[in-house]
Amino acid sequence: MKVTVVGAGAVGASCAEYIAMKNFASDIVLVDIKENFAEGKAMDLMQTASLNSFDTRITGSTNDYSKTSNSDIAVITSGIPRKPGMTREELIGINAGIVKSVSQQLIQQSPNIILIIVSNPMDTMTYLTHKVTGLPKNRIIGMGGALDSARFKYRLSEALECPISDVDGMVIGGHSDKGMIPLIRIATRNSIRVTELISEERLEKVLNDTKVGGATLTGMLGTSAWYAPGAAVSSLVQAIACDQKKMFPCSTMLDGEYGLNDICIGVPVILGKNGIEKIVEVDLSESELSNLKASAEAVTKTNNLLTDLN
Ligand code: 2OP
Repeated sequence: MKVTVVGAGAVGASCAEYIAMKNFASDIVLVDIKENFAEGKAMDLMQTASLNSFDTRITGSTNDYSKTSNSDIAVITSGIPRKPGMTREELIGINAGIVKSVSQQLIQQSPNIILIIVSNPMDTMTYLTHKVTGLPKNRIIGMGGALDSARFKYRLSEALECPISDVDGMVIGGHSDKGMIPLIRIATRNSIRVTELISEERLEKVLNDTKVGGATLTGMLGTSAWYAPGAAVSSLVQAIACDQKKMFPCSTMLDGEYGLNDICIGVPVILGKNGIEKIVEVDLSESELSNLKASAEAVTKTNNLLTDLN
C-alpha cells in the first residue's frame, strides 16, 4: 500500500506520522516544493521507526512526482494555511492553483489513485479536483467532517465531563465556521441522547465552540491546527487502505442526494477500498435539512469564485 502526502508542513507531516504508526502502509512519499524539506521530514520520521515500531518506509521528494508513481492513495495538504482572523474561503486565490497542479501531476503518475483533499477552502478544492481531473466521483474525498466531528466529540465530552470514548456525534455540511452542522439532535453518550443530558444553553455553547474550532486554534497558534487534521485524514486513509467500510462525514460530489447537485459538501459516506463506497442519506430534521441547503449555497458561492476549471 503506497500513500503519497503532498505538503510536508505540519498537517502533512502529522498525517504521515500517524499513518506510519498505524503500520498498514508499505510506503509513504512526502512531497514538498521547499528544497530538501520533505526529505528532511521523512528522514526524521524514519528515525522514529525503531522507537515507534513501524516498518513503513517514508521517503521525501522535492517536487519530483515520479517518486509518487503507482500510489494507491494521495493526501493533498499543500497550500497556505489560515492566519488568525482569516476565513478558509480567503485562501482560494492561492490554493486553487496549487491543488489543480498537484492533483493533475498525481494522476499522471498514478491513474488509479484515490485523492483525499485537505487544502482549504476544502469543499471548493474538492469540487475543483473533480473538474480538473475527471476522476470517478468515488475516488475524490474531501476531509473536513471527520475533523469537525472530532472537535464536536471533544466539546461534548467537555460539557459532560466524561471520557471522549463515551460520546458519539457527527458534523455534516460545509467545512466552514458558519456552514458546518453538528447533529446535536442525534449525538449520544453511550446511546443516550445528549439532549437529555446537557442543558439547551450548554448545548448552544458546544455548537458554537465546535463551529469555530479551527479558528479558535488558529488564534491560539498563529496558524492552522495540525494534530487533529493530520489524525482525521489518517483515519480516512486507513479506512480505504484496510477496506474497513467505515462511516465518516466526508465532502463528496452530490448528484441529487439530499436534493443537492453539482456540489461537494460533507455528508455521511462509507469508506472502503474503492474510496467512497456509498453515500448514506440519513433522515434529517427540517431544520437540519434547511441548514444543509443554506450551507450548500455558501459553498456554491465559493465554487463560483473558481475562474479556471479546465
Ligand atoms: C481546520 O479546521 C485546517 O481546516 C482545518 O483546522
